[in-house]
Amino acid sequence: QKRKTILDIARMKQDKSKIAVLTAYDYPFARLMDEAGIDVILVGDSVGSVVSGYDNTLPVTMDEMIYHTRAVMRGSRQALVVTDMPFMSYQSDIRDARINAGRLIKEGGAQAVKLEGGVPMAATIRALVDIDIPVVGHIGLTPQSIHRMGGFRVQGRADDQAQQLIADARAVEEAGAFALVLEGIPAPLAREITRLLTIPTIGIGAGIGCDGQVLVIHDLLGLYDKYAPKFVKRYADVAPVISRGIEDYIQEVKQGIFPTDDHSFK
Ligand code: KIV
Ligand code: NA
Repeated sequence: QKRKTILDIARMKQDKSKIAVLTAYDYPFARLMDEAGIDVILVGDSVGSVVSGYDNTLPVTMDEMIYHTRAVMRGSRQALVVTDMPFMSYQSDIRDARINAGRLIKEGGAQAVKLEGGVPMAATIRALVDIDIPVVGHIGLTPQSIHRMGGFRVQGRADDQAQQLIADARAVEEAGAFALVLEGIPAPLAREITRLLTIPTIGIGAGIGCDGQVLVIHDLLGLYDKYAPKFVKRYADVAPVISRGIEDYIQEVKQGIFPTDDHSFK
């Protein structure tokens, strides 16, 4: 089975076929979601929160994103793989952005990159698209802007903010991005943006009116304990299963039950 491309994703909007996106950071999760038929795997910088245990995504490095992307590429066969550009890998100047996006493609193996920001990032998006690096935009509640936002809060509630987000969305599309993540914005605004754009929108905390949805896999499975935003739906609660397995193992080691002859070499 051939890997999906950005053309397949673009076509899905035309066909009104919803796009299912999940994050993955390693081989086992990438394999399971790829086999389940996920359309796009996002190697998100949310890895900093849900895997590395930081309070936000700011400390994540380029080398970490490359490492996780390589693992995801080895675990997947059919999904389109997009990798996040980490904080300060593209904001300072366009040359930096090109070099770092190029590393995610060349060293990581990703097919596209995602970066946060609207109008102020349009020239950067264009500069990447111009060297044939496909880009996904990301506007609204952009976690790398945590210090500006003063926390993780819904964006675009006030009318002037909503108008700004529409301008941001248009700028991202105009700059050549092939998809746009809408995070933490009112559902009616996300629906309006989705209607205005020809590229697909991927919502998270942005309501049902988007062309696709994305969730962080650890949130979906109940594997992240720090906070659960309103927009997360927990489809499975695997933490107790993991805890049970670990507790059983500890007990059997302590009691001298494991290993048996079955697990030993003669
Ligand atoms: O890092 C991430 O997981 C993301 C998605 C939530 C869109 O950017
Ligand atoms: Na991200």
